[in-house]
Amino acid sequence: MGWSCVVARAVAVLLMLSRVSALTSDIFAAGKSDKEILDNLLKNSRYDKRLLPPVDGVLTVNVSVLLLSLASPDESSLKYEVEFLLQQQWYDPRLRYSNQSHYDFLNAIHHHEDIWLPDTYFIMHGDFKDPIIPMHFALRIYRNGTINYLMRRHLILSCQGSLNIFPFDDPLCSFALESISYEQSAITYVWKNDEDTLRKSPSLTTLNAYLIQNQTIPCPIKASWRGNYSCLKVDLIFTRDRAFYFTTVFIPGIILVTSSFITFWLEWNAVPARSMIGVTTMLNFFTTSNGFRSTLPVVSNLTAMNVWDGVCMCFIYASLLEFVCVNYVGRKRPLHNVVYRPGENPVTQRLPAVLSRIGIILASPLGDKKRESTTAADLVTCTACTGAPGSCTHTANNGGVSEPCFVQVRKKEPPHPIRVAKTIDVIARFTFPTAYAVFLIFFFIHYKAFS
Ligand SMILES: *[C@@H]1O[C@H](CO)[C@@H](O)[C@H](O)[C@H]1NC(C)=O
Ligand SMILES: *[C@@H]1O[C@H](CO)[C@@H](O)[C@H](O)[C@H]1NC(C)=O
Ligand SMILES: *[C@@H]1O[C@H](CO)[C@@H](O)[C@H](O)[C@H]1NC(C)=O
Ligand SMILES: *[C@@H]1O[C@H](CO)[C@@H](O)[C@H](O)[C@H]1NC(C)=O
Ligand SMILES: *[C@@H]1O[C@H](CO)[C@@H](O)[C@H](O)[C@H]1NC(C)=O
Repeated sequence: MGWSCVVARAVAVLLMLSRVSALTSDIFAAGKSDKEILDNLLKNSRYDKRLLPPVDGVLTVNVSVLLLSLASPDESSLKYEVEFLLQQQWYDPRLRYSNQSHYDFLNAIHHHEDIWLPDTYFIMHGDFKDPIIPMHFALRIYRNGTINYLMRRHLILSCQGSLNIFPFDDPLCSFALESISYEQSAITYVWKNDEDTLRKSPSLTTLNAYLIQNQTIPCPIKASWRGNYSCLKVDLIFTRDRAFYFTTVFIPGIILVTSSFITFWLEWNAVPARSMIGVTTMLNFFTTSNGFRSTLPVVSNLTAMNVWDGVCMCFIYASLLEFVCVNYVGRKRPLHNVVYRPGENPVTQRLPAVLSRIGIILASPLGDKKRESTTAADLVTCTACTGAPGSCTHTANNGGVSEPCFVQVRKKEPPHPIRVAKTIDVIARFTFPTAYAVFLIFFFIHYKAFS
């Protein structure tokens, strides 16, 4: 009675054991769902998610980044929003499953809380955009124990730009990945492979963000402040839309400054017209410049913009001052009762004389020092000349020179104030635009505006 009972129990236990072993070999069998396989894989008795995957040596986590969207709130901002999928791939021998199963991979996205995941965090200047908790996009366990984990992150990065050459700078945004708690000897992050570690999604959307260059590197030694932690760094170099700044800042500025030069072509005594041009262009320039600056970061080192605003303002102000000077000079009472002859324009009338003088200098042999030493300002025009046209010029205060023809020497008298005023205008017509053109060339070349 007792023996048979014991034998029966033993048989029952044996049967149970064989059933259990049949079960364990069965759990990866073809008919099972991936959830059942996962439930079995992740049983508490088999798997402790707090433990690092037991690999020989260092656990390698392969990382790659897929950019989804790039945005900047406005053209002049140094904040860039970067949305991307971060792919991490590592090997966990505990999660291998038998190849009897017909699954290529197990979808473990709903088990992400039960699986060991690398505790990656971001080193960056900036913020996480919602959601703060990372979105899990995919968690796949391959038959050979490779785990592929995809999460979405949306960062708002504060980038570094050289504001002293704004808006011709190229802001640099960077962020780095590091493990929170595992040192380099436990976890090493590596970029997956060198060619496509940072990819653009085919549906990449951009807003005010112009990515021109990227870099995926291990962190430089001095950047990793904790020393023994493995760390990877992403550098994104953006540029700014030059066309935008030309249409909103530089071309309006050039138009205003050149408009202020119109004043030199008006009569010296056209007070309403000339003062209106000066004041209007100046006020307009202030308004345009202030309107644009209100969108800029409030910093002191906007050197390029300051140079631009300052020099343009100087030109506008100088052309206004020039008008004031001309008007003041023109209204002065003439000395010695000089009569103003309106037909005379000191510069244009002297021009032929100067040209012929240059012709003489070029034609004459080297010896004639006296004639060469006289300046163009001393020349008077020959009014009654019968000789060769080239020989008609004469020096007014040098009576010793004898010329073959009769030259009417006029005593040098102070020019009439109105003529002085007109002369100032004529000079300004050429010097102001020339100086401004030189400034424009130097400005745009120095700040490499067209590169
Ligand atoms: C990580 O990448 C290296 C090559 O860069 C490769 O040999 C290794 O198998 C990869 N590891 C995983 C888990 O994918
Ligand atoms: C499946 O696993 C067995 C051993 O467990 C091995 O002999 C066989 O080659 C594997 N088949 C495949 C397709 O990997
Ligand atoms: C594991 O399998 C995946 C998918 O089949 C493959 O991409 C990966 O290279 C394999 N890893 C190893 C270490 O064999
Ligand atoms: C990153 O740069 C590499 C070469 O430097 C380039 O092949 C790749 O397309 C770039 N990636 C993006 C997202 O621009
Ligand atoms: C890094 O690790 C080495 C050896 O493992 C140790 O001697 C050193 O103090 C560690 N440095 C830091 C900053 O923890």
